[in-house]
Amino acid sequence: MKNQIKIEKIIKPFKKKISVSSDKSLSIRCVLLSSIAIGRSKIFNLLESEDVNNSLKVIKRIGVNYIKKKNYVEIDGVGINGFNVKKNTVLNAGNSGTLARNILGLCSATEKKIKLIGDKSLSKRDFSRVIKPLRMFGMNISSRNNNLPLEFAGSNLLRPIQYFENKGSAQIKSCIILSAINTPGITKIKSKKSRTHTELLLKYLKYPIKIKKTKNYDLIDIKGLGQLSSFEYKVPGDISSASFFMVLTLLSKKSKLLIKEININPSRTGILKILKSMNANIKIVNKKNYKGELIGDIKVKSTKSFKSINCPDSLNSSAIDEFLLIFLVAAKAKGISKFRNLDELNKKESPRLNIAINFLRMIGVKVIREKNDVKIFGNPNLKLNGNYRVKNFLKDHRVFMMTCVAALSLIHKGSVVINDKDSIKTSFPSFLKLLKSLGAKIS
Ligand code: S3P
Repeated sequence: MKNQIKIEKIIKPFKKKISVSSDKSLSIRCVLLSSIAIGRSKIFNLLESEDVNNSLKVIKRIGVNYIKKKNYVEIDGVGINGFNVKKNTVLNAGNSGTLARNILGLCSATEKKIKLIGDKSLSKRDFSRVIKPLRMFGMNISSRNNNLPLEFAGSNLLRPIQYFENKGSAQIKSCIILSAINTPGITKIKSKKSRTHTELLLKYLKYPIKIKKTKNYDLIDIKGLGQLSSFEYKVPGDISSASFFMVLTLLSKKSKLLIKEININPSRTGILKILKSMNANIKIVNKKNYKGELIGDIKVKSTKSFKSINCPDSLNSSAIDEFLLIFLVAAKAKGISKFRNLDELNKKESPRLNIAINFLRMIGVKVIREKNDVKIFGNPNLKLNGNYRVKNFLKDHRVFMMTCVAALSLIHKGSVVINDKDSIKTSFPSFLKLLKSLGAKIS
């Protein structure tokens, strides 16, 4: 089968400096916000991946032109409520939950009927989480079982809402913020902590938005129908992509890695806090502020022994895309690691909590699960002996990449075959090439 890879050997010690792919969350937000800015925006280092290309295709379908240049993309924004939608428009969000949920908010004032579709994985995901607040604004949305495909029409009589976002989901929060921009008056969101890129970008662009931080919640006020000027932005590296290389280095012998220019917004760095408290040798250097976002280089060294962790669930949202990797480190740690309230993990591109537990059990790790809490019984001598196959039936990019890291750091005898290498096109198309540049043997 062509679309699979096989790993039979651990990676040899490496000492390298790398850059990983650009941040996916910021790339999608730059595309969507520049589509409603007035004038031409220039986005440098825009992630070249399927989720971001689908974002560009989607804005094109609603009347926004863009040109890809060598180092940047130029996007000609049409201003707030300026989309030009033709009859029978279909928008395809592909694999991207972020794009699908945010485009609904972005189009809340677009009166023509639009159909939103996605791939098999996205079509299994729940949209009630955004349908509910969008209907409160006055949008018309119909769907079967709150899944894609769904049909929607915005309204020219939107009203501002007050909403309590209690899942810690940035996709829901950002969808509401985008709809609020189309809505006269002030929308108020009380939001459980989640990634803050949309708010920070709007603040940097001087859009009328107010953010008050309390311990567990952010209180956000957005004034609708403000003005958004076009902008230039250089997208930094993605900590979620860097994490695969961080954990590979930690679990490998005598290796060192410097990962350059990574977005280290505190709402994204749960993995650093969790791994550091497990004794991981990680340092952040060259910290700087870039247009409201924090950026730094990550220095990682092989770590001989890891401590288990009793992980507070307040860190769940800031590490949400990294738990597959965190579980892998827990599997090698001394002692029992505990994680709680991971229900959101099963709402991703695939049910990642179930998949991670099955994977750990398959490689011989003891895991006890009670509802959405897990206990992982670590084994510092964990090695893979045998022939394994990971089917990855929903083509989840992060499942594919985590399994590569597990195989390259743990295989002793036998092989690991992993299906669907094309899944990396979603977020990190150069993943395998970069692994090979460190010396990984992959066939
Ligand atoms: C994202 C938010 C997270 C994350 C996803 C990207 C974003 O999802 O898992 O990969 O860019 O807003 P939720 O907000 O649904 O937790």
